[in-house]
Amino acid sequence: MSRASSPPLDPVAVSEDLTPLPSLKKAGNADIDFDGQLDQPLKIHEDARSGCGGQTWPAGLVLGKHILRYHRRELQDARILELGAGGGLVGLAVALGCGGGSSLLLTDQDEMLQLMQHNIRLNGVESRASALVLNWGEPLPEAVVQQRPNVVLAAECVYFEPAFPLLMQTLKDLFVLNDEAVVYFCFKKRRRADMQFVKMAKKAFAVDEMFDEDRPVFSRQALFLFSFQSKTAANANKAAAANGKANGANGMHKS
Ligand SMILES: C[S@@+](CC[C@H](N)C(=O)[O-])C[C@H]1O[C@@H](n2cnc3c(N)ncnc32)[C@H](O)[C@@H]1O
Repeated sequence: MSRASSPPLDPVAVSEDLTPLPSLKKAGNADIDFDGQLDQPLKIHEDARSGCGGQTWPAGLVLGKHILRYHRRELQDARILELGAGGGLVGLAVALGCGGGSSLLLTDQDEMLQLMQHNIRLNGVESRASALVLNWGEPLPEAVVQQRPNVVLAAECVYFEPAFPLLMQTLKDLFVLNDEAVVYFCFKKRRRADMQFVKMAKKAFAVDEMFDEDRPVFSRQALFLFSFQSKTAANANKAAAANGKANGANGMHKS
């Protein structure tokens, strides 16, 4: 298949949206604490002139809050990669909120590189976060291969149908690199076609809707929050859980 990358978002190309993309904001700084999840708010410079990722999107806020609320400990020492990071909202929230043992790669198209680097500096996390270009569908950059991420974050990356196979390819490549990785994936459905991406993902990966006490609220806003795992890892986890239960029932407990 073609490994050409998708062009940046053209607002005209999404004019058939069921829910339109928000109108572009003026450049400026925002402090975001994810509804009190961060003691010290994340500082984000937004500048939509660099592309649609230059501003904050609803799925990024939902995913950031979800990770901080439910996955903090798991991510403390994780090797984290963010796809389509834009200004780095989710990845940087995780870097601030999940402790110093993790390493973070923020990735996006070339247009977003400066903004990602700027926001890394703004939050003082240069020692454990860096930014690089990763065009979906292209071979994974060497830095990603070296990092071998075990946690992948992707917010609001489903909005442009021609990019779906490219994003799928990158996710598959990441599971080839580490089939125990977990992808946390959140997007707002704007067009009927967006659900095609979920269909493709369900064919290729084990897809789960994650528990979140805010789900009734964000579902009403057509926001979807999933985890993806490789089918091999998901089956192994299920078998281990069933085994654990059986051992528990037999009074066998591993110390
Ligand atoms: C709607 S923005 C979301 C930004 C950020 N994740 C957030 O939630 O605020 C989508 C991002 O995907 C990136 N993107 C789109 N197509 C891409 C591609 N082919 N390769 C890499 N990134 C891409 C865009 O540059 C943009 O930053």
